[in-house]
Amino acid sequence: MKILVTGGAGFIGSNFVRYLLEVHPDDEVVNLDLLTYAGNLENLAGLEDAGNYRFVRGDIADAGLLDRLFGQGLDLVVNFAAESHVDRSIEDPGHFLNTNILGTQALLETARRYGVTRFLQISTDEVYGSLSEEEGGFTEESPAAPNSPYSASKAAADLLCRAYFKTYDLPVVVTRCSNNYGPYQFPEKLIPLFITNALADEPLPVYGDGLYVRDWIHVRDHCIALDQVLRNGKDGEIYNIGADEERTNLEITQVILDKLGKDKGLIRHVKDRPGHDRRYAIDSSKIQGELGWRPATGFRQGMMDTIDWYIRNEAWWNKIKSGEYRQYYERMYGNR
Ligand code: NAD
Ligand code: TYD
Repeated sequence: MKILVTGGAGFIGSNFVRYLLEVHPDDEVVNLDLLTYAGNLENLAGLEDAGNYRFVRGDIADAGLLDRLFGQGLDLVVNFAAESHVDRSIEDPGHFLNTNILGTQALLETARRYGVTRFLQISTDEVYGSLSEEEGGFTEESPAAPNSPYSASKAAADLLCRAYFKTYDLPVVVTRCSNNYGPYQFPEKLIPLFITNALADEPLPVYGDGLYVRDWIHVRDHCIALDQVLRNGKDGEIYNIGADEERTNLEITQVILDKLGKDKGLIRHVKDRPGHDRRYAIDSSKIQGELGWRPATGFRQGMMDTIDWYIRNEAWWNKIKSGEYRQYYERMYGNR
């Protein structure tokens, strides 16, 4: 199989490329990534010489480039490429529409013209909006009710996927996963930001009361689920993916502080995120029942392994945090 992975230099995409090459050595992977601030070829270090892997730098919204790539023959498409950070979408919403909506449409359109056997769109549970404490987890039937510019752009892309399936019979499948954690996550998201800040004895900016809830999954479990959906999922379907590990942000913070032997004094309750979704929780019984997928990594073990990874890979995150990202961080948190 020849597989186009977009956004494969980011957090989940790079873990997925590694997973594919490890588990399906006969597959051929083309990784198309624009290398925005979040894309990093160091996430793929060691793969450069693999005969069945090729990196192409480019934009998923560039129809001419897509034409050339698809013209060389592709069987499957897995679309991770996106602007992915809610806080950045609040700062600069317009930027999110180009990649997340127009880019996805350009990919769908090219996939339609050339014909692929599967188009897998990587979406998010954030398209469902927010849950109260009492409600059960989101199912695939929950209505889309996105609250941030990021989640609205992802929901729009999901609807385009639906339209390409209904109108053109393009074999599209959409997955909606909960919050991921693990190696190579850009240190702007909660877990890697707090681990790396704590390691450097820098403050941990907890938004509002810190009692917001996310449903956490180790990135490798997400990759295993995606591979199963890619090969065995049903056209036109949506599959929720989650590991049933709900935690408040303060609980996450405490796990990190305890493991690193750091003091609670590092916690700073800062101004809340506007429109902050209170709780996400995913009901993943459909993928479990239909495809037999189960999460394999428990939250505690996954967090210990992840914290150890950031301890071992200080050079990786130090380079990121001392560069352009430092200015962004000061702007975001300097006045909170
Ligand atoms: P990320 O920000 O780490 O990586 C995104 C990648 O896309 C980067 O390598 C970037 O360079 C690339 N990219 C951005 N714009 C591009 C463009 N126009 N053309 C080509 N490449 C482009 O994101 P992530 O956390 O790995 O998320 C990957 C996907 O998974 C996203 O679609 C996101 O919505 C979805 N998702 C993420 C999570 C999570 O917890 N991180 C959960 C559910 C779903
Ligand atoms: P984040 O990692 O940005 O993921 P998402 O918003 O897509 O769920 O945030 C996870 C949770 O952590 C969310 O409730 C916001 C909160 N948070 C903080 O309290 N402080 C921070 O510095 C960040 C980045 C997030």
